[in-house]
Amino acid sequence: MAAAAGSSIYLPESVTLLGVEQPTELEKVFRVKFDSGRPLGHGPGQFVQVSLFGIGEAPISICSSPCETDYFEMTVRNVGMLTNAMHKLTPGAKFGVRGPFGTTFPIDEMEGKDLILVAGGIGLPPLRSLILPVMGDRERFGKVYILFGAKSPKEILFREDLAAWGQAPNTTVLQTVDRGDETWGGNVGVVTTLFSQVQVDVPNTYVAIVGPPIMYKFVIMELAKLGVANEHVFMSLERRMKCGVGKCGHCQINNVCVCMDGPVFRYSEARHMTEAI
Ligand SMILES: Cc1cc2nc3c(=O)[nH]c(=O)nc-3n(C[C@H](O)[C@H](O)[C@H](O)COP(=O)(O)OP(=O)(O)OC[C@H]3O[C@@H](n4cnc5c(N)ncnc54)[C@H](O)[C@@H]3O)c2cc1C
Ligand code: FES
Repeated sequence: MAAAAGSSIYLPESVTLLGVEQPTELEKVFRVKFDSGRPLGHGPGQFVQVSLFGIGEAPISICSSPCETDYFEMTVRNVGMLTNAMHKLTPGAKFGVRGPFGTTFPIDEMEGKDLILVAGGIGLPPLRSLILPVMGDRERFGKVYILFGAKSPKEILFREDLAAWGQAPNTTVLQTVDRGDETWGGNVGVVTTLFSQVQVDVPNTYVAIVGPPIMYKFVIMELAKLGVANEHVFMSLERRMKCGVGKCGHCQINNVCVCMDGPVFRYSEARHMTEAI
């Protein structure tokens, strides 16, 4: 667990909303900073517990780079009580944040390796917290493939980032949608249809996956066909959470607490957890 020194894992700290963008009908991106001035100090793949007074708390992933210390960002889909209330906030609003919590994608272990980074839908925001530092230090890594699938073109998040990442040397961004429309000239089909375009040095390849539960099984099948080692595959698993700190049992799969032992798991370990994938 990685709450910053001096902060409590149980007590929300006040943050101020610096700015909000709405890239899609359901999602908004919130940029915030702690009123204390402390940096969040997160690693790629970690999450925070966001709380609004009188409403409650929910886990939300960090989508900004760990290298950014002046603020941090979260992408929030409006699905229920807390996220609906968040969507009504305007710059200057204050709310509570605990964290960061959870395990991280092992960016140092990935150094020098080819990377396949696979996101589905709202899985792109947490993966962005890994992609940004990789892109910011591009020469540390081999080839990078970013595979992103959205339900429709209207639901594509971080369009400008995807375009910019595709311009980076030795980097390929492949996108697909389940259903195209008149604006879409690209690939139509699930994210696994993009794997035919991936050419990596398999023994030296690491993979990170974040997406809806159904996606994992099929991506894992593609990786098995390619021959990528299970130890090199990392995935973020989401479970209903309450405390975020291993106390309440809400997030438990078998004897594993997803909030503390995850959300990022190595597939060679996660595959033994029943119901995990
Ligand atoms: C580690 C982690 C990271 C996450 N990161 C993000 C993120 O970056 N962005 C984001 O938007 N979301 C993220 N989520 C999901 C988010 O925490 C949930 O959607 C949260 O429930 C939203 O809270 P709410 O009060 O707005 O919605 P809720 O009121 O909790 O409702 C959310 C949805 O769940 C249903 N629901 C409510 N209670 C239950 C129940 N007991 N059992 C089954 N279904 C129920 C509701 O009908 C609704 O469809 C993350 C979750 C985890 C665990
Ligand atoms: S959310 Fe309480 S134990 Fe994980």
